[in-house]
Amino acid sequence: MRGEFKTGMKAPPTHAPKVLLKKPKIHVVSFGCQMSFADSSEMAQSFLNKGFSSGESLDLADAVVISTCTVRQHAEDRAISFIGRLRSWKKQKPHRLLVVAGCAAERLGPKIKERFPHVDLVIGAKSIEGFSKIIEDILSEKYDLAAESAADFPQTPRLSQGSACDFVTIMRGCNYSCSYCIVPSVRGREKYRTVETIMEETKAKIASGVKEITLLGQTVNSYQSEYQDKTVKFPDLLRILDRIEGLKRLRFMSPHPHYVTKEMVSAFKDCPTVCHYLHLPLQSGSNRVLKMMRRNYTRELFMDKVRMLKSELPHLVLSTDAIVGFPTETEADFDETLSFIKEFQPAWIYSFKYSPRPGTLSSMELPDDVPSPVKEERLARLNDLAREIGRATLKGKVGQTVEVLEENENFGRTRDGFKVKWKGGDKSIGEVHSVKIVDASDFLLIGEK
Ligand code: 5AD
Ligand code: SF4
Repeated sequence: MRGEFKTGMKAPPTHAPKVLLKKPKIHVVSFGCQMSFADSSEMAQSFLNKGFSSGESLDLADAVVISTCTVRQHAEDRAISFIGRLRSWKKQKPHRLLVVAGCAAERLGPKIKERFPHVDLVIGAKSIEGFSKIIEDILSEKYDLAAESAADFPQTPRLSQGSACDFVTIMRGCNYSCSYCIVPSVRGREKYRTVETIMEETKAKIASGVKEITLLGQTVNSYQSEYQDKTVKFPDLLRILDRIEGLKRLRFMSPHPHYVTKEMVSAFKDCPTVCHYLHLPLQSGSNRVLKMMRRNYTRELFMDKVRMLKSELPHLVLSTDAIVGFPTETEADFDETLSFIKEFQPAWIYSFKYSPRPGTLSSMELPDDVPSPVKEERLARLNDLAREIGRATLKGKVGQTVEVLEENENFGRTRDGFKVKWKGGDKSIGEVHSVKIVDASDFLLIGEK
């Protein structure tokens, strides 16, 4: 079977009569990271272009796109179980279209259709760029889309109607080979979108009401591309986008520590839209484990970057990722992670239990030898520390007046990424408010206007 299947392949035409669809609806479910959410939004756009409308419940939907994740087994299991539950959804209205996309789709390929015959199309993460053509073909083959539905739809449809924040993917794939990570095999090597495309998409989103753009890429700050006879690197891209009229905030996810440079720091200083928040994935504080993880840095080098950032950008808020229970991780290794985090003081931590992924170097060459209860216990200790640091950071904000971009009614975020709920004042999504912080819970600032 291996090698015979390419994700994105669909079954040969059945010559079944076309189904007439009036006002068709699409529902998107994402089980992954922001990249996977952005990919599924891009896929949904192909449906919107054909006259589908979005934002409807699963029950009312004619088509569902499921964006799957395979970074950890748990994420994959959740997506697979959801696909299984859609058996009865499809049975109720057999004209419905079920598309499974993303990283788990790339990894599992034909196995998904073998196990779930109610799935119409499997399209892996590497095939996202060809998706719109595949969708157009399948929709024309399967449906008569009533003309009125297309005409009803606005010119620049967006998936996240009403939201002030949106994503722009600037690169896909990863050229690193961290031993635990399945991303390079399911997403392939780095590919960059052109500066022109990124600017066009950013401008279109701003024209439709977006105020804050998050640039996305697996190692987003390794971006480079040729533009007007020059090589544009990530800091240059920040400078170019910063000049776009109407953009209030510019963020990005997820940077790689290697590309956190002085040039990037200068762009932070010079560009008023660039938010002073940086996610810097550590993974482990033990040099022995970092080496086995193939992270290409030591704790000392990482701390040098943290110190440089803190001295150059005193208001910068940092967050991080950490993995506990990597093969052979000892108590001493884990203690090094804890001590490093105490010095690093990230405002929040995304912590994960090591999950061996098929085909990765660590899963093939190292034993998954940290027992599950030990992984659990280390995760709990790391989370306790994260909560402690987070709580102290948030408490430190009480009494300050902060600038909040309203994302949903009564809810928004500060420029440095803290979530805020507040009372008083007129509410208006997309507006920037000045809010006095009067209290803080573990992960939320409470304010008044
Ligand atoms: N096991 C546990 N966590 C993982 N991550 C990536 N691969 C694995 C794995 N096999 C985590 C890393 C990465 C984040 C997106 O997911 O911390 O930064
Ligand atoms: Fe995975 Fe490492 Fe690439 Fe991040 S940098 S996506 S952890 S291989």
